Amino acid sequence: MALVDDEHSGANLAHWEAMARFHGTGDDSYYDLDLLRSGGTLLGDEELDAIKRATHGDGLEGRDVLHLQCHIGCDSISMARMGATVTAVDFSRSALDRLDELARQCGVDITTVEADAVALPGSLSARFDVVYSSIGVLCWISDIDAWMGGVARVLRPGGKLVLVELHPLVTMVESLDPLIVDFPYRFDGPRVYSGTGSYANRGADIEWTTVQYAHSVGEVVTAAVRAGLTCTYLEEHTSGTFNTGQFLGPEDDDRYRLRLGAGAERDGRREPPCPMPVLFTFIGEKLDAASGIADAERS
Ligand SMILES: C[S@@+](CC[C@H](N)C(=O)[O-])C[C@H]1O[C@@H](n2cnc3c(N)ncnc32)[C@H](O)[C@@H]1O
Repeated sequence: MALVDDEHSGANLAHWEAMARFHGTGDDSYYDLDLLRSGGTLLGDEELDAIKRATHGDGLEGRDVLHLQCHIGCDSISMARMGATVTAVDFSRSALDRLDELARQCGVDITTVEADAVALPGSLSARFDVVYSSIGVLCWISDIDAWMGGVARVLRPGGKLVLVELHPLVTMVESLDPLIVDFPYRFDGPRVYSGTGSYANRGADIEWTTVQYAHSVGEVVTAAVRAGLTCTYLEEHTSGTFNTGQFLGPEDDDRYRLRLGAGAERDGRREPPCPMPVLFTFIGEKLDAASGIADAERS
């Protein structure tokens, strides 16, 4: 990985155009489109729990949801099936074309909007009860304040941001053996990566170059608060249902954990190292303009 200035501006779009055409094809079990087409959901436990919390258990029935950085739309389709009216935004035309085709196959209606996540069209302003965005979205964003500002603008007063994201701690690690820690924890400008394959299919015959940006949990929450969102829930998960770091293996309970080094010595035996965060859930509420009080504080 090299540290460079921000000259690779088109690299990320080219990367996602290629990934969008490829994902869900061949040996890809991450995007299990047969499961989706047959009525199953690809939403993980953490995403479902976040939606439940943000809606106080009511779910998405009858709600206007903006799915930000929707990729090929697996989660958009699952949320539409939960009764939401979904608008899906991505900057990749190929991703939205795949989404349209999948939505047709799944028999759900989804509106797609091709836009940069930090320049959401004015036509979307104040139209949504929920903005949902998940897993692998923020590392593509150089200006986290602009991203949060757009989210706050498209929410109605009282609307929620549901963000379930890779924890910045796990994204620091490139490999466990050897232990390579080559990505900053907090914002430190653009980093250029080159590689092959995809997180959904490591062996895929695809070469890529991308520009990525680190954002710490503190920077994300601060950006949300600056944009006018109240933090109603923040959880740092020390296990997940999928291989968040690409290099983790499932443990006996089928969950994936990041464990570094050695654990405590007890009764002459080494315990496994304590797990470190792999995901976080952030729920932010746009203050109700009339009362200026978030609903978490009312109850
Ligand atoms: C890792 S994927 C999100 C995956 C999603 N959780 C899923 O599994 O379907 C990241 C998405 O962000 C989109 N993206 C990256 N940078 C963007 C930007 N600046 N504006 C809009 N979309 C962007 C990419 O096209 C891609 O679809």
